[in-house]
Amino acid sequence: MSYLEFRSVTKRYGPVEVVAPFDLEVAEGEFVVFLGPSGCGKTTLMRMVGGLEQPSSGRILLRGQPLGPPDRRRGMVFQSYSAFPWLTVAGNVAYGMRYRRDLTAAEKRARTAHFLRLVGLTDFAHQWPNRISGGMRQRVAIARTLAAGSEILLMDEPFGALDALRRERLQLELRRIQREEGRTVIFVTHDVEEAAFLADRVIVFTRRPARILAEVDVTARLGPESTLELRGSAEFFALRNELLALVRSTDEEEEATAP
Ligand SMILES: Nc1ncnc2c1ncn2[C@@H]1O[C@H](COP(=O)(O)OP(=O)(O)OP(=O)(O)O)[C@@H](O)[C@H]1O
Ligand SMILES: [Mg+2]
Repeated sequence: MSYLEFRSVTKRYGPVEVVAPFDLEVAEGEFVVFLGPSGCGKTTLMRMVGGLEQPSSGRILLRGQPLGPPDRRRGMVFQSYSAFPWLTVAGNVAYGMRYRRDLTAAEKRARTAHFLRLVGLTDFAHQWPNRISGGMRQRVAIARTLAAGSEILLMDEPFGALDALRRERLQLELRRIQREEGRTVIFVTHDVEEAAFLADRVIVFTRRPARILAEVDVTARLGPESTLELRGSAEFFALRNELLALVRSTDEEEEATAP
């Protein structure tokens, strides 16, 4: 039995078909990247996995069970900057752990400090979200979700607003956490290099309605390790170019169908 399974999932908003019958199986502990043109339905698929939207038809199964409303097993980081305005930065990160009975108060404080350090917000722990920048609020959401320790992480372009170095640091850390703790990740990005670096498997989408154009098994090609050395290798570069060619082909499709 696969861990997460999309079975003939469709989604329409009125007359607009956003997801065509979509089938995908994700293994437990796998890092899957969704890569595809803007507006093709990636966020819609993520919202359905998160339980925020229902498929128009078809089913999404988690460990063989139909998905219910949002719960702690699924942690989400979305494109829009989401920090709770009524909690401080540290309060936001701790909030993700509010139901963790397996952690003592001291452990929660230590985890909060650890993830704040990771996203570079230690000095802003007691600040209010409306006093920090959008990129910083995004980092708060990332820290909160990682600290919460959900078994599946749904991340929708989480690193888009970050500078290159912090982005690289968070990519390495996310991959480390995913490997060491056996988390399953679905990650949306427009960045082919980020996709090649993070993924076990990249799913390339067509334009709307979302269908699978290609699947690239990155781990089979590059091995399971995501290191900075790998990033400089010829194999990595070749794979990145392949992904870029696939993304470009979805763009040509757009030109070909334009009136
Ligand atoms: N609530 C809604 N009502 C009507 N149409 C919607 C709704 N949500 C999404 N759509 C439409 O569905 C399509 C897919 O949207 P979605 O946000 O899933 O795309 P995306 O692949 O995440 O794009 P991007 O890469 O730009 O984030 C778009 O054409 C969008 O306008
Ligand atoms: Mg989106």
